[in-house]
Amino acid sequence: MRRCAPPRETVQGDAVSRLMPLSPATLRALPETRALIDSPGWSGLLNYAASTRAGPVLFIQTIHSHATAGEDDPQTELHSDTFYPSMKAWLYLHDVPVEDGPFVYVPGSHRATPRRLWWERASSLSWREGNGHHRRGSLRISGEMLRRLGYGPPVTYAVPANTLVVADTYGFHARGPSSRPSTRVALWAQQRRNPFLPWTGLSPTSLPAVRDRQVVAFWGLADRLARLGLGKQTWHDTGAVSPMDPPGGGGGGGPPPRPPRPPRGGGRRRAPPPPPPPRPVNPG
Ligand SMILES: [Fe+2]
Repeated sequence: MRRCAPPRETVQGDAVSRLMPLSPATLRALPETRALIDSPGWSGLLNYAASTRAGPVLFIQTIHSHATAGEDDPQTELHSDTFYPSMKAWLYLHDVPVEDGPFVYVPGSHRATPRRLWWERASSLSWREGNGHHRRGSLRISGEMLRRLGYGPPVTYAVPANTLVVADTYGFHARGPSSRPSTRVALWAQQRRNPFLPWTGLSPTSLPAVRDRQVVAFWGLADRLARLGLGKQTWHDTGAVSPMDPPGGGGGGGPPPRPPRPPRGGGRRRAPPPPPPPRPVNPG
């Protein structure tokens, strides 16, 4: 695995996320993983949830919860990633009990109902009221607003090892709050595409040779733009670390280590103020 792309880390709140790209060199060392991601059953399921046959970006993902000083992990707030169907999948490599912050999803919230569309428009008009994620289009939602939109309560998916979870992340979802410091490792896929293309195929990333190189190419471009002062690179090279290693990396230029702090009892931070309540338009 000498030519494997090194993992990168980023910090969000008190959580450290690490991504190890499944590049061609990495996949040569992981033949079983390559057989899985090239199988029709895997790609068919992911394509269906993503509403596109564009190839996913693929990683070994590590989430260290309560790993640094900082605010609560912003990904523990219920939110939608996009305003159109998009997909994330996790094949968990170990058990994820409820104490370790399993995936949370609001069933049925991937459907664009009239109330949902009204809320999205209202949110777009009041975008300044939310946090940075909300302002960039990953809309946060409160429990009260979920009820007003007609959705049921979130479901927590505490799962055993070797479980595959596939979600349309247009639906409302979150990382569950961890009640203790934890590390979650999964084979992770993300798939989304320009929603204004009126076809589902004809994407170069559907070819494995392109699919497996797109992340490293994108990170390299982001690095160059950051050096030119034209952008910001938030994913830092960790050097040679394994998915289960503690955060901080191998000294490859990652974020400075910060002391961990005890969990705050698993409590979830309040969502930002919701936009004005939607007046149901054709609620039936
Ligand atoms: Fe998300």
